[in-house]
Amino acid sequence: MTEGSLLYLDGVSVSFDGFRALNELSLVLEPGEMRAVIGPNGAGKTTMMDVITGKTRPDTGRVVFGADTDLTKLDEPAIAALGIGRKFQKPTVFEPLSVWDNLLLALAGDRRPRFSLWARETAEERRRIEGILETTCLTEHRARRAADLSHGQKQWLEIGMLLAQEPRLLLVDEPVAGMTDAETAQTAELLREINRTRSVVVVEHDMEFVRALGVKVTVLHEGSVLSEGAIDHVSADPRVIEVYLGR
Ligand SMILES: Nc1ncnc2c1ncn2[C@@H]1O[C@H](COP(=O)(O)OP(=O)(O)O)[C@@H](O)[C@H]1O
Ligand SMILES: [Mg+2]
Repeated sequence: MTEGSLLYLDGVSVSFDGFRALNELSLVLEPGEMRAVIGPNGAGKTTMMDVITGKTRPDTGRVVFGADTDLTKLDEPAIAALGIGRKFQKPTVFEPLSVWDNLLLALAGDRRPRFSLWARETAEERRRIEGILETTCLTEHRARRAADLSHGQKQWLEIGMLLAQEPRLLLVDEPVAGMTDAETAQTAELLREINRTRSVVVVEHDMEFVRALGVKVTVLHEGSVLSEGAIDHVSADPRVIEVYLGR
């Protein structure tokens, strides 16, 4: 069943001071898949991302990436180097720099030597930055300071900076929090575009957004999977309704 999967969480448990944030969580992501993860506050969504990226080590269970790499044995830089990129909720762009220079710096993280922004970018770097600008709808904003972007545009820029690292798997935690409706719709389109070439796990509360993604949904509750399937399936699941209404 897990043959050929990209990411396989197998019975993962994490406790904080005796409280089980993840409880025997199992989840399989196929190569190329985009998965939406929803669930009430405290369900363990962010902890799940922390475990995948090596920020938190599980008490029990395995996290297998690709054929047989157990991520629980690796530290954060080693996991990032395998091609797992993570976007946190709060944007961490370099505000005084232009959009272009933010992307140039992100390319520099690409294990090639670039010691300063004063060295002219190569034609190859220019080509890659142009591509990312287009994907993230920032082509017309390339010269603006990141500080002057809207909240939504800053989030897209940060996603662009992750794309510069060419991740195989992109993890995105609540990308549309605080966005306008138009920005939210644009973000769904952006993630669908990214998913043409990369696998994605996106955690989000916004149901309209999750519906717009049109992908398989995993509902987490108390650290394990409560329901899984198409959005219409999970939102009609009595257990899901009870958890959401019973809050
Ligand atoms: N570092 C931590 N120390 C103690 N408790 C934590 C820590 N991280 C998360 N928790 C707790 O674990 C539970 C799950 O949190 P989290 O994964 O952030 O949920 P979600 O992202 O689904 O809202 C919450 O009850 C939270 O308070
Ligand atoms: Mg969270």
